[in-house]
Amino acid sequence: MLPLCLSTQPVSKKLFIRTYGCQMNVYDSTRMADVLAPLGYDTALRVEDADMVILNTCHIRERAEEKVFSELGRLRDLKEARQHEGGGLLIAVAGCVAQAEGAEIQARAPYVDIVLGPQTYHRLPEMVARASRAGQKVLDTDFPVEPKFDHLPAPSAQGPSAFLSVQEGCDKFCTFCVVPYTRGAEYSRPVASVLAEAERLVETGVREITLLGQNVNGYHGPGPDGSAWSLGRLIRHLARMPGLDRIRYTTSHPRDMDDDLIAAHRDVPQLMPFLHLPVQSGSDRILAEMNRQHTADDYRRLIDRLRAAQPDLALSSDFIVGFPGETDADVEATLRLVRDIGFAQAYSFKYSPRPGTPAAAIGDQIPETVKEDRLTELQRVIGEQAVAFNRGCVGRHFDVLLDRPGRHPGQLIGRSPYMQSVFVTAPEALLNTVQRLEVVTANPNSLAAKLLDQRACA
Ligand code: 5AD
Ligand code: SF4
Repeated sequence: MLPLCLSTQPVSKKLFIRTYGCQMNVYDSTRMADVLAPLGYDTALRVEDADMVILNTCHIRERAEEKVFSELGRLRDLKEARQHEGGGLLIAVAGCVAQAEGAEIQARAPYVDIVLGPQTYHRLPEMVARASRAGQKVLDTDFPVEPKFDHLPAPSAQGPSAFLSVQEGCDKFCTFCVVPYTRGAEYSRPVASVLAEAERLVETGVREITLLGQNVNGYHGPGPDGSAWSLGRLIRHLARMPGLDRIRYTTSHPRDMDDDLIAAHRDVPQLMPFLHLPVQSGSDRILAEMNRQHTADDYRRLIDRLRAAQPDLALSSDFIVGFPGETDADVEATLRLVRDIGFAQAYSFKYSPRPGTPAAAIGDQIPETVKEDRLTELQRVIGEQAVAFNRGCVGRHFDVLLDRPGRHPGQLIGRSPYMQSVFVTAPEALLNTVQRLEVVTANPNSLAAKLLDQRACA
């Protein structure tokens, strides 16, 4: 939090944000904290200490949504206890559940003061004023014409790694997905605005930036010359920024992986050799039903081109099992694709029908037990690949950004180029620096390494 901002507001208050779902929500949560800092809100580490709580919600699968309503029940108790003591608690629900179910939240949880969507949080100060001073219930789930990015304060970074949202929304309309409805139409931020935010982050000590977007590789923001810049061009430009050691981007769509971006993986050393590229299924029939607009072989060919450009590239993906009408043969095709590609890691989910999406209306829904069996099998194969990938790292030398102290004194934790957590015995002075390490052992979810040398920074 910037002390500069606090000086404009003498009353210090505590803000607690609980974030569900994707990295875009993590980014939004930090930006909501930035927006509220000038009102005197400082971070609370525990919900019990907060004057205001924001639940930044995720609507992508049913379970994420259920968690929000049970958390709201606990917050109601906290608010009532405060009111008995003559105090108060401001409760806000933000994010994609708020966008999709705003009225439902107000009906089911009338003690919620503010309901706001992902595109309106730049207006939080006004909403807080209305809710706290006038005691009004606020619902703001517009898709405003003016993009929120034009109204956000400078970002405050915590630690050497930061997210930077460059693109939002989605026009692809995969038939299972709520994102086009909750996040709205595709929007790419202007290049100048992205660069200004990146510069600011680097000034505050950030060494690694992950460019975020629902379809980040579909980025086509207007450049200073008026032409639309691709993500590849943006990455090349960012790579020239002194102090910025590492660049990542997520999440991508296979259809938007253009030659320029593939070439950036070959040419830009700062671009980490790790790519999260969701494929969802290995069955052409299911891919067509999902409206993914590519086949399994298109994906295989794309990975071949990426690996030709950057032989060290490690891959991650998302899979859905139990999409309506999915047969055992379709699952076999998915397992075949997984074996053909070889993933360093991957996320897999049981299909969850989302209200209002086309796939939810398909008659042939798959029983929960069948989905579970398919998920177990897929996760077994993916798990084997992840273990094999980690084992293959033993003996390799990696540049690791040491971004956290470990649990034991004298230990630091960092991220490898492939996003693995790496544990190392190292002096605290090396926190927030990039160090060359040798991997000595591999665990299923992390690596242990030793320092090779002690450069002050990479
Ligand atoms: N059911 C299950 N998984 C889903 N995802 C998106 N929508 C659904 C759904 N309705 C998964 C996809 C996506 C990831 C973010 O979440 O795999 O890539
Ligand atoms: Fe959802 Fe498909 Fe858009 Fe990804 S590309 S956000 S899965 S609709």
